[in-house]
Amino acid sequence: MSDSPLEIIILAAGKGSRMKSSLPKVLHEIAAKPLLGHVLEAAAMLSPSKVHVVVGHGRDMVMDVFADQSINWVEQSEQLGTGHAVQQVMPDVGSNSHVLMLTADVPLINSQTLASLRAAMPAFPLALLTATVENPTGLGRILRDESDGVCGIVEEKDATAAQLSISEINSGIMCARSADLTRWLSQIDNKNTQQEYYLTDIVEIANKEGNPITACHPQDVHEVEGINSRSQLATVERLYQRQQAERLMDAGVSIIDPSRIDIRGEVEIGADTVIDINAVIIGPTRIGNNVSIAPNCVISASQIGDGSCIHSNSVIESSIIHERVNIGPFARLRPGTVLCAEVRIGNFVETKNAQLESGAKVNHLSYVGDATVGSNTNIGAGVITCNYDGANKHKTTIGEDVFVGSNSQLVAPVEVGDGATIGAGSTITNNVGKNKLAVTRAKQRQIDGWQRPTKNK
Ligand code: UD1
Ligand code: CA
Repeated sequence: MSDSPLEIIILAAGKGSRMKSSLPKVLHEIAAKPLLGHVLEAAAMLSPSKVHVVVGHGRDMVMDVFADQSINWVEQSEQLGTGHAVQQVMPDVGSNSHVLMLTADVPLINSQTLASLRAAMPAFPLALLTATVENPTGLGRILRDESDGVCGIVEEKDATAAQLSISEINSGIMCARSADLTRWLSQIDNKNTQQEYYLTDIVEIANKEGNPITACHPQDVHEVEGINSRSQLATVERLYQRQQAERLMDAGVSIIDPSRIDIRGEVEIGADTVIDINAVIIGPTRIGNNVSIAPNCVISASQIGDGSCIHSNSVIESSIIHERVNIGPFARLRPGTVLCAEVRIGNFVETKNAQLESGAKVNHLSYVGDATVGSNTNIGAGVITCNYDGANKHKTTIGEDVFVGSNSQLVAPVEVGDGATIGAGSTITNNVGKNKLAVTRAKQRQIDGWQRPTKNK
């Protein structure tokens, strides 16, 4: 390794016309993170002394999204080509630096691959990242001389029929010394089919100067998959998701169908957890060991303890779930839900900002919001904590071993003491004492000789 500082340039000024979008291409997302975000993350792992991002199309939108990062933003007001884009940055680059050039539309690039490219310096003044692919359509082709040395790159639109049959492609990623790069860039022109200043033209220039040029390859060919269209965006999303599934399976997670899982953000899952199809798991989320997740669940920003079971079609958001909890099917846990060990939440139950102590049960069709529920309390079907008076939210406090009969409403603020029983169909507006029975429903009457109405003739 050399002592030269590393500076990274990320090209992100293009419109991405082929996306047919009002959003700049680099803000389109893979796993809910913008393309540029993925590339910035890979770049950061190399601890560069500076990161420069070239912006143009939708510049303010792009800068806004990454406002919290330390980036030297460089404007390219007219997108005259990738070479022209790098030229805009060179005045900001130290003359002694090594310059790693990345493109924001190649998001799966791995930092180890980038480190190996950089390691080619200073032995090779120019190092390219290339790959041999089955379908090179649309990409720049690597030209090699009789002795197999890299001597140029030709863009697809400028290539001859013979050149089009070359299957070694340019990833768009390269590394060079700052002083060399400045000199080479000063010699490029736009005499090509697209009338653009191509970065790729520096390869031929460097070769003519007699510089040895090396081509490094990614660890995995998919790393250099570029995104120019919605179809490629979808392809790369699945590649990314496959990587996530592999990572989880390596850690001992069973995934019934790795092509039907979506992981977004930071997600950790323990061994022997089984995930059925169509789970969407959004970070930061931590799921323990031996958890079972049935089909069609969405889990975001939550923790799930060992041995818990999430039945199908449940939605869990910003919640903390302890061990051996049962949830769903068709449950909705909204932010601020805390379920202690062995709680049971059944179908069509909604919770929000609610803490349920261990062993509490809410099995059917209830709303528990702004509430605490003591351990082993049983909440019957169709119970509602009426937490909102139309202006403010109020709290319901339910003790331990309480039995709340079906179809009862607890009008907050209200407290129900330990061991209390609430008769089915009650509307509770006053506090209920310990071990008391509270019942508010009207007395049943029976009318003898009642004649049912009959249809008019
Ligand atoms: C480019 C390469 C091609 C390579 C491919 C790999 C050139 C001339 N071609 O082609 O050899 O195989 O990437 O994915 O370099 N950009 C700017 N300013 C511009 C033009 C582009 O910042 O004036 C940015 C774009 O936002 C994008 C990147 O540069 O992030 C690449 O541009 P794009 O138009 O996608 O180039 P490709 O046609 O894919
Ligand atoms: Ca591209």
